[in-house]
Amino acid sequence: MTATTPSIQTVTKIPVPLTAHPYEVFIGKGLLTEIGEYTTPIVAPCRCVVITDENVAANHAGILMESLGRSGFDPQLLVIPPGEQSKSMSEASKLCDRMIELGIDRKGAVFALGGGVIGDLAGFVASIFYRGIPVIQIPTTVISQVDSSVGGKTGVNSHLGKNLIGSFHQPLVVIADTGTLCTLPERVFNEGLAETIKHAVIADASLLDLLPTDRSRDLAPMIARNIAIKAAIVTEDEFETKGRRALLNFGHTIGHAVESVAGYGVLSHGESVSIGMIAALDLSVRLAGLSLIDAEKVRCAIRACGLPDTLPSSLSTESLLAALQRDKKFDRGAIRFVLSGQLGSAFISDQVTLEDITETLSRIRR
Ligand SMILES: NC(=O)c1ccc[n+]([C@@H]2O[C@H](COP(=O)([O-])OP(=O)(O)OC[C@H]3O[C@@H](n4cnc5c(N)ncnc54)[C@H](O)[C@@H]3O)[C@@H](O)[C@H]2O)c1
Repeated sequence: MTATTPSIQTVTKIPVPLTAHPYEVFIGKGLLTEIGEYTTPIVAPCRCVVITDENVAANHAGILMESLGRSGFDPQLLVIPPGEQSKSMSEASKLCDRMIELGIDRKGAVFALGGGVIGDLAGFVASIFYRGIPVIQIPTTVISQVDSSVGGKTGVNSHLGKNLIGSFHQPLVVIADTGTLCTLPERVFNEGLAETIKHAVIADASLLDLLPTDRSRDLAPMIARNIAIKAAIVTEDEFETKGRRALLNFGHTIGHAVESVAGYGVLSHGESVSIGMIAALDLSVRLAGLSLIDAEKVRCAIRACGLPDTLPSSLSTESLLAALQRDKKFDRGAIRFVLSGQLGSAFISDQVTLEDITETLSRIRR
């Protein structure tokens, strides 16, 4: 992690040293006004699109468009409805059509301005448009700044499950302006902290101490630490073939089932992952020797962030098990489950049975 000094106060730069396409993540307050300056050394000024959603556009698109224009880009703004429902094949297809109509070609680029939905969708569009054009990730939620903008996983949901359609498409650069987090609604701000708690469980328990106690706290150090963890894991296992990257799924196996059974948008991604982490902690205590004290420490952090720590009674065990079996992580009858035996470390287990999960679901129910 090194500090650079462009004209904006303090900027933290974290490398993601992938062999084929290394890139950098810049983190700092106010970076949006200088996106053009940060981008031109990496991508030549061109006709490009800024893909964002209505909420983000209202607060932050103007500054970005101006900055890109000043640096010689010809940016076209594409605004989609906010929310998980927009992460769909039909939205991806509409965006591609609009880009063709706007005359974007293989020399163009996509600027993804928004949370994880925009990052995943716009990244996916960039990966298939003209068989792949560059994407620049400009994350504006906690979840996207600590996690989703780095690592190159892009995609959309199917009505049969989350993130079932997608590709790997690494960004050219990630620019996280922590100032954009000021306009986040409280619920969205809080849910992003779930991925930080996940990183604490799987890689660095001291991250629990960096969780914000109030919204005025400078989040740059916490975001930088998260990015460094994610960058290290992704660099070791870019395509999730070596078992390292799969550790990032802690809490996500049951979390994705909860999210899809509740109906996308009812429980947010972070809220669903929190419930999934409570389930994974219960399984870790019963099957991996995690101490009850450590499990309770994480549960307290989840609660302190205003996130749910019980499973809503409206979500039946049968529907959750059915959703689990459609999950990519379900391999011929066995779930590849991420467990933790000690805070700060995790491992993949294929020993977790549907019976174990059924029991855990009943133990964590409201
Ligand atoms: N690719 C990955 O590695 C990865 C990792 C984790 C999560 N994800 C994905 O991320 C998505 C969730 O991300 P999210 O929580 O950021 O969702 P999101 O993009 O839907 O953003 C949440 C809400 O906040 C609004 N918003 C965003 N930035 C704002 C700002 N600065 N000010 C005001 N409002 C703002 C959005 O309009 C939306 O209503 C899920 O689809 C999940 O699957 C992907």
